[in-house]
Amino acid sequence: MENTICSAPTKKEYMGNMASNSHEKETVIHILIVDDRENMRNLLSQTFQEMGFNVSVASTGEEAIDEITQHLYHIVITDLSMSGKSGMDVLRYVKSVSPETEVIIITAYGTIEIAVEAMRLGAHDFITKPFQLAVLQNKISKLAKQIQIKNTNRAQTWIHPSVKHLVGESAQTRQLRQIIARIAPTKSSVLITGPSGVGKELVARALHEASPRRDEPFIALNCASLAPTLLESELFGHEKGAFTGATSRREGRFERAHKGTLFLDEVGEIDPGVQVKLLRVLQDGEFERVGGTETIKVDVRIIAATNRDLRQAISQGTFREDFYYRLNVFSVYVPPLKERPDDIPALVEHFLNKFSMELKKEVYEVDDEVIELFLQYPWPGNIRELENIMERAIVLATGTQITINEMPYELQNYIETERKKETEVQRRLYEKDDFSLEEHTERLEKELILKALEKFHWNKTRAAELLGIKRTTLQYRIRKLGLE
Ligand SMILES: Nc1ncnc2c1ncn2[C@@H]1O[C@H](COP(=O)(O)OP(=O)(O)OP(=O)(O)O)[C@@H](O)[C@H]1O
Ligand SMILES: [Mg+2]
Repeated sequence: MENTICSAPTKKEYMGNMASNSHEKETVIHILIVDDRENMRNLLSQTFQEMGFNVSVASTGEEAIDEITQHLYHIVITDLSMSGKSGMDVLRYVKSVSPETEVIIITAYGTIEIAVEAMRLGAHDFITKPFQLAVLQNKISKLAKQIQIKNTNRAQTWIHPSVKHLVGESAQTRQLRQIIARIAPTKSSVLITGPSGVGKELVARALHEASPRRDEPFIALNCASLAPTLLESELFGHEKGAFTGATSRREGRFERAHKGTLFLDEVGEIDPGVQVKLLRVLQDGEFERVGGTETIKVDVRIIAATNRDLRQAISQGTFREDFYYRLNVFSVYVPPLKERPDDIPALVEHFLNKFSMELKKEVYEVDDEVIELFLQYPWPGNIRELENIMERAIVLATGTQITINEMPYELQNYIETERKKETEVQRRLYEKDDFSLEEHTERLEKELILKALEKFHWNKTRAAELLGIKRTTLQYRIRKLGLE
C-alpha cells in the first residue's frame, strides 16, 4: 500500500529545531486504536502500521484514558460502545487534556443524534459499522495530511501538544511551556525545582513527551524512598550473587531507560556516595552493575527534581557541587500556586472536566464564591491540594454546581479566620494598655515556628530550612519558647 503521508511537505518539528544545524523532519503520526474486540484491534493496527503510522492499541476506554494521559496521540480511533467507559467518554477526555488530538468514532449504532453529539464534543468524524476498510484508510490519510500541513504552517511557534497537560494561562505557566518546548529537543540534563505539589513531575513528563525520545521509555525513580545500597542497585542493576537475596541478574533503571529519559525525583536526598557514581554516568554514560565488572554504556537523558535548596545542601556538605553542575545544565523553576493565581480558573475547569468524567457526575460549574475563595487561599499544598479539593467537591456535589458547601471545613472558614486573626492582632496592638513588643514578637515567633514544624510534620531540618535559620538555632528556640 502506498504511504500517502510521505508526500506531505517537510517541516520543522519543534521550536527547538530552529537551531541552525537542524534538519527538516516530518512528524510521525501517532494513532491510538480503542476497541474491545481483539480482531478489530489487530486488523486496524496492522492496516495503519502498513501505512507508515505509529500505532498503539487499547482494549477498554479506561486503558485508552491512561494512554492518552501518558502519551501524545495525533489521532484516536475509538469504538463507541464498550463495557465501562465508552467512546464518548474517551472523546471527552481527549478533548479536555489534548484538544489538538483528532478523534474518529466508530459505531454500529449510528444514529444521527449520537453523530451530532460527537461532533459537538469535537470529534473529527464519525463512521458507522459495517464499513469498508478503504473508507477509513482514506479518511485517516487525509487527516494525517492535514495534521502535517497544520504543523508546517506553525513550525516556528508550534509548541508540542503534550505541554498542554500543563494547564494554566498565567504568564509564569505560559513561559514554563515555552521553556519546556525550547529545551526538550536537547539531551542536556534538566533540574526542576519548586515546592511540593507544583507539578514538577508533570514538567518532567512534558519534557520527555516533547523530546525526540518520546517513543522510548520514561523511567521515574523516587530517590528519597530507598536506602543508599538499594538505590544503587535500583539505578545500576545487580549481578547474580551481588548480595544476599540477589538470586538473579537484574537490570537497573539506567538500562531500562536506554535511549529514553530517567527522572530522578527528590534528587536532593541521594547519599553522597551514590552521587559520585551518578556523576560518572552523567559524564561518560557508563557504569557497572552492583557486583559486576562489565562496563555498560547507555544513552539516557537525566531529568531531576527537588523541593530542597541544593545550593544550601552544597554549603552544608550533603550535596556534591560537581554533581549539581552536571544536573543543572538547564534549570526550570516551577513557582508555587499562590504566586500565579491567574492559573486558578483554567485549573479549576480542567479538574472539573477530569473528575466529573472519571466519577461519572454531571457537575459543570463552580460557584463564583468558591472561585473567590480559591483566589485568596494561599495553597500550601499547591496544585495537588487544589486537585484533591476539586475531586472531593465533585464526589460531594448534589447538583450540577460546586458550592462553598462542598469545600473542606478549614477552607470554608478560611476567610473568616483570617479576618479574626487580623482584628485580634490589631486589638493586641492598639487596645492593650500594657502592650509589649517583646511579648508580641515572641508570640509571633511561636506561631511561625509552629506553622513551619507542622508543615513538615515536625521535621526540624526542613522547618529550619523554611525559616531560614540553622537547625541548631531552631532547636534552641523550640526549647526557649517551650514548644516541645
Ligand atoms: N499545570 C498543571 N496542570 C494540570 N495539572 C497539574 C499542573 N501542575 C500540577 N498538576 C497536577 O498536580 C499534581 C501534583 O503534581 P506533581 O506530582 O507533578 O507535583 P510535584 O511538584 O512533583 O510534587 P512533589 O514535590 O510533592 O513530588 C499532579 O496530579 C499533577 O497532575
Ligand atoms: Mg513529584
